[in-house]
Amino acid sequence: MKIGISGASGHLGQKVLSFLAAHGAGHSVIGISRTPATLADPAEGREGDYDHPESLVRAYQGLDRLLIIPSADLRPGVRGRQLKAAIDAARQAGVEHVVLVSAAGTKEAEEPSIGAPYWDGEQHLIRTAPRWTILRMNYYAESMADEIKSSLGAGVLAGLGPERVAYVSRDDVAAAAAGILAGEGHAGAIYNATGAAVVTGEERAAIVSELTGAPVGFAVLTQEQLAGGLAQAGLPEPVVSVVLDIKRNFVAGAFDIVTNDVERLAGRPATPLRDVLAAVLKA
Ligand SMILES: NC(=O)c1ccc[n+]([C@@H]2O[C@H](COP(=O)([O-])OP(=O)(O)OC[C@H]3O[C@@H](n4cnc5c(N)ncnc54)[C@H](OP(=O)(O)O)[C@@H]3O)[C@@H](O)[C@H]2O)c1
Repeated sequence: MKIGISGASGHLGQKVLSFLAAHGAGHSVIGISRTPATLADPAEGREGDYDHPESLVRAYQGLDRLLIIPSADLRPGVRGRQLKAAIDAARQAGVEHVVLVSAAGTKEAEEPSIGAPYWDGEQHLIRTAPRWTILRMNYYAESMADEIKSSLGAGVLAGLGPERVAYVSRDDVAAAAAGILAGEGHAGAIYNATGAAVVTGEERAAIVSELTGAPVGFAVLTQEQLAGGLAQAGLPEPVVSVVLDIKRNFVAGAFDIVTNDVERLAGRPATPLRDVLAAVLKA
């Protein structure tokens, strides 16, 4: 079987390639991005640009299965357009089964909400792909670790209200994606790659206190206070807007979902948030 990974050169894509190289015996794996020369693992790299649909149709030729990893381009409207282009190109190229990486809590949403491209992409996939699977990722433990690192000096982690998030490690999302791609019986499924437990804001602060040996609290701020703090720290307005969107989702329960899907698909238990934080904070 020929398996393509679109977005193969990114953090998630590289890990999917590694898992397929280790466990996808007998399959040929093709890495697709704008910079295929940077790909280490796959036997073959192909050039495909989400902004140039004709390049995608070429890149997806001959594939039996394709994983679409959205780009990290957060400009309103861009990712939704790119995902539709990739899904259409896969159909034109005759790809039989498309697997889309989406986000936990996806529901009807409009631009510029951060969830809009995932909603539009999922809907387009379900309506048009011959066979499809959706892998919704919870919030990355690594992204939270980076945020925590940058706020350690303040001794406080900020949120917009009570948070409940089942942080998932990027490695676990990649292993789950590889399990779908190399496995059978996943057509028509919507999986949620999550950690094994929901972590509240206070619990997160307590873990950080324990790991660093310094008191760290969890503070609930207003949107204006949080936006002001982020702007003061030098973040540009579009990034502040995305962070607020994510923090609102933390409170609204978009990531308040725990499944056993990582273990089911990857064949190993999900990594606890504490382990990811310990590794990142130690480094
Ligand atoms: N759930 C979470 O907590 C969380 C956190 C962070 C990120 N994410 C999302 O997870 C996804 C994967 O993240 P990541 O860290 O792996 O992102 P990443 O490292 O930025 O990788 C993105 C990939 O997309 C490719 N790409 C970008 N623009 C492209 C274009 N126009 N055409 C074709 N390929 C393009 C890049 O390859 P080239 O540049 O070589 O083309 C790269 O392979 C992204 O959608 C990101 O926004 C989720």
